[in-house]
Amino acid sequence: MTADRTAGRAGRLSDLWRGRVQEAADWLRERGFTGGTGLILGSGLGNFVDAVDGAHAIDYAGIPGWATTTVAEHRGRLVAGEAGGRRVVVMQGRLHPYEGLPWDELLLPTAVLACLDVDAVVVTNAAGGLNRYYRPGDLMVIRDHLDLHLQDPLRGLLADPAPPAAAPGRGARPHAVYDEDLARALLAAGAATGVPLHAGVYGSMWGPAYETKAEIGMLRRAGCDAVGMSTAPETSLLAALGVRVVGLSCITNPAREVGQPELSHQDVVEAGAMVRDRMARLLLDFLPRLG
Ligand code: HPA
Repeated sequence: MTADRTAGRAGRLSDLWRGRVQEAADWLRERGFTGGTGLILGSGLGNFVDAVDGAHAIDYAGIPGWATTTVAEHRGRLVAGEAGGRRVVVMQGRLHPYEGLPWDELLLPTAVLACLDVDAVVVTNAAGGLNRYYRPGDLMVIRDHLDLHLQDPLRGLLADPAPPAAAPGRGARPHAVYDEDLARALLAAGAATGVPLHAGVYGSMWGPAYETKAEIGMLRRAGCDAVGMSTAPETSLLAALGVRVVGLSCITNPAREVGQPELSHQDVVEAGAMVRDRMARLLLDFLPRLG
């Protein structure tokens, strides 16, 4: 069943990169990186791996075809083990679109993760809070996103790039990237652990500069509750490959139009350190809910 699942996902990749993805996935599977639930950990949030039992890890640099991140705080390791009673494969650190790689190289780790027989992927990030009710240290389940890279990251990467057929007489349906059942399970984990959770829309910008005041105003008027520089390309790919996805943003700072001191990457990493223990507690309660 899981082998079929992976074959189905690999079959949805275009010839441009299917071979490279399968080579890395085969190589990792032979080394025990397979099955369970996938997690991608964002800036300052990598310590979740401390909660992984029986962990074995491999540096990204050692994985065939896998580019390495240039962001110092992203450890760049793949970790496998058990957390919350489930098998997990964890990407500790990610590549960002602002690092300048072509989309196929940037998204290769995500495609490989999809081909490691995972049943779902949890994608986390550090984000600025746009919603006026959000405070640093809050967590937000991603209901949906606006991908403001304004490019299709999947262009040329899918075997069948045609839009899905419309239901007879009903026209096209909105495209759901984030799995509603998983989002509900995460909210239930929040209630069970006493970790308060917002649910909102994530705006994915290019970066690496933080947003201008005018951009913050635009994002807010466009309906974004949080803003960051990752996630949307990864989650769009996972959904296109038929992987169930849930997204979680850690709000590390307010993104304000007025009166905000200049933000540094270090500030974001330090704020991530404040919230990451709560995030780990939440995820440990969430994982067994995947059934
Ligand atoms: N903007 C973009 N990305 C971020 C922010 C922000 O304010 N905070 C953490 N990542």
